[in-house]
Amino acid sequence: MIIIKSDDEINKIDRASKIVAETLIRLGEVIAPGITTKDIELKAEAIIKSNKAASAFKGYRGYPASLCISVNNEVIHGIPSRKKVLKDGDIVSLDVGVVFDGYIGDAAWTYPVGKVSKETQKLLSVTKESLYKGIEKARANNRVSDISHSIQVHVEGYGYSVVRAFVGHGVGRSLHEEPQIPNYGLPNKGPRLKKGMVLAIEPMVNAGGFEVAVLKDGWTAVTADGSLSAHFEHTVVVTDDEPGILTQLN
Ligand code: MF3
Ligand code: CO
Repeated sequence: MIIIKSDDEINKIDRASKIVAETLIRLGEVIAPGITTKDIELKAEAIIKSNKAASAFKGYRGYPASLCISVNNEVIHGIPSRKKVLKDGDIVSLDVGVVFDGYIGDAAWTYPVGKVSKETQKLLSVTKESLYKGIEKARANNRVSDISHSIQVHVEGYGYSVVRAFVGHGVGRSLHEEPQIPNYGLPNKGPRLKKGMVLAIEPMVNAGGFEVAVLKDGWTAVTADGSLSAHFEHTVVVTDDEPGILTQLN
């Protein structure tokens, strides 16, 4: 069942989402060669705490950290570590989920570390564009796979591939609600979108093939072929009019 949120609930998801946005922006400002992914986690925890919120990820199905930090060939669910030092030319995906007043906002952004190659920058731009292509379809009376299709067409047009093993999702009181939102597929399939649905749309895009593997830590998903992977996510509300991007600051 897809939960339709009341205006009051959307306001609460919006407040959580604004904390997520602030966290991602402020973390983006500290990304630099030489810092560890654990340093980033500590900073995230301080920002979330100062907003009187909590991580929506920590403890979720046993996940051990407050956010996910995935470097280079890591797709999603990387666990922060003191041993992981960022270096010039890397890319780093930060995925932040926050609960505030019982409601959750969820977003992710991939940042370049120092100076990255033109090819790497292209992967980031195309993945971000594909997120906005998907969001554009998050409108009442469209169907879920209209989002999926739009993302896939954009990504594959540049020769990249869309990860298939992980999907976007509804979000609200729970981190993962219905519907699932694949980032590929034919248009005009799946549930019809309605005003008041809140969706976390999150394309994960590999420079090489779409296949992924999960490391022995039980969480970190990596590309099977070792290629780079990028991830952008927003929490979006379906309205009568333009899609509302809740995790965007401004
Ligand atoms: N944004 C990711 C998702 O929606 C993050 C989940 S990480 C977890 O699946 F640890 F909480 F599972
Ligand atoms: Co998500």
